[in-house]
Amino acid sequence: MININEFNKQDWGDSPSAVLRNLNNISLNEATLYEYAVAIAQSQYRDRETHQSMQVLSDIKFALDVTAIVAITDSQGIISYANDKFCQISKYSRSEIIGKDHNIVNSGYHPQSFFSEMWSTIQAGNVWKGEIKNKAKDGNYYWVDTTIVPLSDETGRIIQYLAIRLDITERKQIEEALQRSQQELQEKTQHLERVISELQKAQSQLIQTEKMSSLGQLVAGIAHEINNPINFIYGNLVYVAQYTQEILFLLQLYHQYYPMPMPEIQQAIDGTELGFIKEDLPKVLKSMRLGSERIRRIVLSLRNFSRLDEAEIKSVNIHEGIDCTLLILQNRLKIKRSNSEIAIVKEYGDLPLVECYAGQLNQVFMNIISNAIDELETAHKNSKVLNPKIWIRTKISGKNRITIAIADNGLGMTEDIRQKIFDPFFTTKPVGVGTGLGLSISYQIVVDKHRGQFSCISTPNAGAEFLIEIPIHPTEK
Ligand SMILES: Nc1ncnc2c1ncn2[C@@H]1O[C@H](COP(=O)(O)OP(=O)(O)O)[C@@H](O)[C@H]1O
Ligand SMILES: [Mg+2]
Repeated sequence: MININEFNKQDWGDSPSAVLRNLNNISLNEATLYEYAVAIAQSQYRDRETHQSMQVLSDIKFALDVTAIVAITDSQGIISYANDKFCQISKYSRSEIIGKDHNIVNSGYHPQSFFSEMWSTIQAGNVWKGEIKNKAKDGNYYWVDTTIVPLSDETGRIIQYLAIRLDITERKQIEEALQRSQQELQEKTQHLERVISELQKAQSQLIQTEKMSSLGQLVAGIAHEINNPINFIYGNLVYVAQYTQEILFLLQLYHQYYPMPMPEIQQAIDGTELGFIKEDLPKVLKSMRLGSERIRRIVLSLRNFSRLDEAEIKSVNIHEGIDCTLLILQNRLKIKRSNSEIAIVKEYGDLPLVECYAGQLNQVFMNIISNAIDELETAHKNSKVLNPKIWIRTKISGKNRITIAIADNGLGMTEDIRQKIFDPFFTTKPVGVGTGLGLSISYQIVVDKHRGQFSCISTPNAGAEFLIEIPIHPTEK
């Protein structure tokens, strides 16, 4: 007798004849027949269940294949299955893919560490999820949202990896485009910020230049108004001196021929100290002449300095411009609260007339020389410089160029400061003293207006030298 239980254990996959052969060996009674019927019913039921499960599985596979890129690799990562979608997106035929690993679609975009992390996750039996950029056979890139599931046998050993991927190329492209436009926007914003700050600088320079120009107009106006009256005084002083001489001579004659004047006249002579007046009057007149001569020179210098009438480019004598500037700054050369004076050493070369905006160039000389005076004043007060000096040298420095060098023996500046002195608003002077605009405006005048060069050579404790190089005729090479 075969125990039905044992029989049940047999492989139901045996052929029907084998089953029949087995049946022949069985002595059938009712009970065993019943048991056997039950067993057949159970087996049919199980068959149906298996069939149904297979059906479900195949439906799931169909659904997966339509929506996802599916691949199965062995434990070493060698591809053993790739669905149609895999072939479509990667542009490889199935035979080109099977037997290879996923390096075949590696785009080189991700670092090695990205894949090492992926491998250690799945080798530990965990599901890995991530976004991967791959490269198709035709060189095009595509992005896949990837899930890798490790599949293990009943002992728990991983035998396969199932990779399910969704094509997210479009989303990634949109993301990348968004990122690019964000970056562009950022760059544009930065550019705009730079433009705004440059505009602000330009505006402040304009305001300063405008101030200088209105100051120039004021100076020129005053100079013009003073010019006439001082000319009356200066011109008439000659006659006053002459008339005085004549009157004094007459007085002397009177005194000689009328030594005994009337008592009233004698009284007046005694009261006016005539002797002293006769002696002092010529001296008074001389000092009046010197004073008015000086006023005339200053007025001329002011006019020359502001050169309002010469807003256009003109041929001028550069040395005259420098001398006028020095005359205007004359009072600053005497160091306050000290007996010392800043010495000016002029080493003028033989310069031709130079075509330039004379008023503006004088402004440059003024800015540089007043900086040198500022520097020497502080250095002298701190007993760092005992013999303050400013050198002004000029020379022809090329076929069509002249150089003006203005140097001082002050304390100079560090390289760090030297790099910034032409920046608008850069100043090392106390608030209210420096505006930080002198050199930046000078730079604009020399470099932009005159197509020249403007530089500074300086080392700490060794003074500073400013070099202006401009063309003699700006239109020539
Ligand atoms: N002859 C010089 N010696 C040393 N430093 C100087 C000299 N000339 C200019 N500088 C430096 O350059 C800076 C900028 O000068 P400037 O543009 O004229 O502005 P400000 O005179 O208002 O400070 C000064 O603050 C100073 O630090
Ligand atoms: Mg200055």
